[in-house]
Amino acid sequence: MSRCVVTGGAGFIGSHLVERLLADGHEVTVLDDFSTGRRDNLDPLASHPRLQIVSGSITDPLVLANALQGAEVIYHLAAAVGVKLVAEDPVRTIETNIYPTEWLLKFALQGGQRVFLASTSEVYGKNGKEVWNEDDDLHFGPTSRPRWAYGCSKAIDEFLALAYHRKSQLPVVIGRFFNVVGPRQVGNYGMVIPRFVDQALSGGPVVVYDDGSQVRCYAHVREVVDCVVRLMETPAAEGRIFNIGSDQPASVLELARSVIERVDPAVKIEHIPYAQAYGEDFEDIQRRVPDVRRLSQTIGRTPSMPLGAILDDVIAWKRQAAR
Ligand SMILES: NC(=O)c1ccc[n+]([C@@H]2O[C@H](COP(=O)([O-])OP(=O)(O)OC[C@H]3O[C@@H](n4cnc5c(N)ncnc54)[C@H](O)[C@@H]3O)[C@@H](O)[C@H]2O)c1
Repeated sequence: MSRCVVTGGAGFIGSHLVERLLADGHEVTVLDDFSTGRRDNLDPLASHPRLQIVSGSITDPLVLANALQGAEVIYHLAAAVGVKLVAEDPVRTIETNIYPTEWLLKFALQGGQRVFLASTSEVYGKNGKEVWNEDDDLHFGPTSRPRWAYGCSKAIDEFLALAYHRKSQLPVVIGRFFNVVGPRQVGNYGMVIPRFVDQALSGGPVVVYDDGSQVRCYAHVREVVDCVVRLMETPAAEGRIFNIGSDQPASVLELARSVIERVDPAVKIEHIPYAQAYGEDFEDIQRRVPDVRRLSQTIGRTPSMPLGAILDDVIAWKRQAAR
């Protein structure tokens, strides 16, 4: 049994991770300010004897230091997340995603804690390669476009974590998540699957930005959490970066069609330009596919649930939540 802290533990991925860590017999402290996370996500676990929930912000160093006290393992997931939120509030993105990570790494070094750092496929920016591997270049757009603030902020977190590892042997593992999806994900901040499912369930239209030819790979959150936990149990993962995601590509238009086919084939698709959704200065990434060989070689598995099965799970959860 380990004592674990999950920052952002009331969020989508965080709440699944908390569930898994408790099931594995660990003690868990959640630190969350409930900005994009929700209390309901932890409701079924709220009275668990090995769970403590701290309401507070990682942007307050005292709150952060107190929450980390006595922990052995830290999963750092709290962040300003979501394309929409980030485009609308770049200052919050930078302040939430950079300084607190530096403090957390410093505290972890002092406390002798192991750290998992949640990063993102956004760090690759608009790298034009078909498949991205962990050593590829990062191709960000100009700083005048707020969209790049998210990927840049997470890239700085990665630099910091690797520097702490090199300089002081801090045991840290970096996971770059690629479109993690599943029950409890909400569509308010631009996440595509919950938005499409909500739109289809309420009769449509399902709104696709531009022509829908953008390519993404979707991984079920429970499989992603399993990869994270296994990486933290594997000494060879320390000081390294891992793509964590599915490597099965699907276009956004295919995704919209699959959702409609499952919910109600009569629902229509509507196309709107990106500018209408996110403003004139928005730039998107056309293709985002991970090379997951490093993950597979290190822990012996990668997320592999087919998109159809993932959609069935999300739709069932949405229908149940609506009841
Ligand atoms: N979902 C994905 O596909 C995806 C992809 C790439 C990276 N990630 C990363 O995974 C992590 C979790 O993302 P998620 O999808 O579960 O999003 P989420 O918004 O559900 O989770 C983020 C959590 O952090 C909390 N939080 C935000 N600011 C905070 C603060 N100042 N103090 C304390 N808590 C704060 C939120 O309330 C929320 O519970 C994030 O670091 C995100 O960047 C997610």
